[in-house]
Amino acid sequence: MKKAPSGIVPIIAVDRKAPQALYRQIYDAYRAAIVERRLRSGQRIPSTRSLASELGVSRFPVLNAYAQLLAEGYFESRVGAGTVVSSSLPDQLTSSEPIGARVTATRSGPRPVARRPSALLRLGRAAWLGGRGAFSVGQVAFDEFPLQVWTNLVARHCRNMSARSFYYGDQMGSMAFRETIAGYLRTARSLHCEAEQIMIVSGSQQALEISARAILDPESRVWVEEPGYRLARYVFSLTGCHVVPVPIDQEGLDVAAGIKRCRKARAAFVTPSHQFPLGATMSASRRLQLLDWAQSSGSWIIEDDYDSEYRYESMPVASLQGLDSNSRVIYIGTFSKVLFPSLRLGYVVIPSDLVDRFLAIRVAMDLGPPTFYQGVLTDFIGEGHFARHIRRMRVLYRERRSTLVDSINKEIGSMVEVLGSEAGMYLAVALQNGRRDLEVAERAARQRLWIWPLSPSYLGEAARQGFILGFGSTKVSEIPNAVRKLRNLLTMK
Ligand SMILES: Cc1ncc(COP(=O)(O)O)c(C=O)c1O
Repeated sequence: MKKAPSGIVPIIAVDRKAPQALYRQIYDAYRAAIVERRLRSGQRIPSTRSLASELGVSRFPVLNAYAQLLAEGYFESRVGAGTVVSSSLPDQLTSSEPIGARVTATRSGPRPVARRPSALLRLGRAAWLGGRGAFSVGQVAFDEFPLQVWTNLVARHCRNMSARSFYYGDQMGSMAFRETIAGYLRTARSLHCEAEQIMIVSGSQQALEISARAILDPESRVWVEEPGYRLARYVFSLTGCHVVPVPIDQEGLDVAAGIKRCRKARAAFVTPSHQFPLGATMSASRRLQLLDWAQSSGSWIIEDDYDSEYRYESMPVASLQGLDSNSRVIYIGTFSKVLFPSLRLGYVVIPSDLVDRFLAIRVAMDLGPPTFYQGVLTDFIGEGHFARHIRRMRVLYRERRSTLVDSINKEIGSMVEVLGSEAGMYLAVALQNGRRDLEVAERAARQRLWIWPLSPSYLGEAARQGFILGFGSTKVSEIPNAVRKLRNLLTMK
């Protein structure tokens, strides 16, 4: 059973002028709260002393009320836990229906809601997103994370918390952290940026949301990669935009096809370092073409650079933002892949003339990022642990990737084509024939094999079917067996 919050005082309105005795009012309030399931079995009851003090009454009526509730079996005493709501309440005492459900059922009349989220609700939660283990996408080698170093830094930051660190932080993010990130981006990703242009966000997803609000209007048209990152499409749809799918080939986004479809799009969303999900790296000529298009048509480019730290065949490719001389690129980065996703820390590099606009939107949203882990991460990067971690993980992921590619070639090489294995923590396999990736992925999830089907990455009809296989958290020793499992699923009639 989930632990209920302990010792929290329920709302009890005592009225000294009422004819009913105070102890009776307290007894009735608790009894009603238990019968209506506002207080649940096992929940701790505040001590008589603290309740009396909260209610501004003497302890006697509280002691009397508690004694009666204990005698009638509503409360029980537990060694070490004090008084709790009884774990063996007779059914007839409580409604089995949660109170929220009853309230909804009795509501009537029109209940209008926003139309735009409805499309997202229809999508539900797919089976293959559910688990942890072989091939789940977006998971990192958590057992290789330098936890001792991290723990020491967290403890140090806790010990050194000052009065200032209890208050709201800088709404753009801490300046020390932004300077550290700016230095990293200029060096490792060839960005043109200053700390003043960097906003700290809770991951790329929030960066996308703020960017969309800053540059797009309802009805604006936005190029998205086809196939592409679904969560980006959701953001544009929620903003009321029309997404225009632009095909991908081995050089990345087909800019000419985009221009043919919709020259006047307000923005393009791209993953040029490692296209999600097919893994292509955008060629130099396509990058220049895309930047030319943005300049000539007055459009913006949103560059999502989510996992470029991990490249295996060659040096990381310079960013699109670094090539841009017209400030048309909004650059988004995240610590979800390079460190771990529950950290919820990312950043957006904003063209200078848009900084105030981004900040105004951010303040309306959440007043700025939490400060604690910004401090921890500033030191993690500054003291060299980050660079060391990337170097170690690159070796580890390269080994996992090579084992996976070898196993695929051995077991299912004739059935699939491997795509985009040069970078990142996942690769794609396209089915040579057969069009049932959804069905196979669902069956795989039942066998605890977490493969993402490719087809939902398409907005239109899927030109290719296949799977996205994550290898970030899949150990070398697990891979051959997991690939054999996949082979069995693919050969099953
Ligand atoms: C294309 C792409 N961008 C960004 C992210 C990371 O998002 P966030 O930083 O919000 O965790 C992912 C995660 O899977 C991704 O696939």
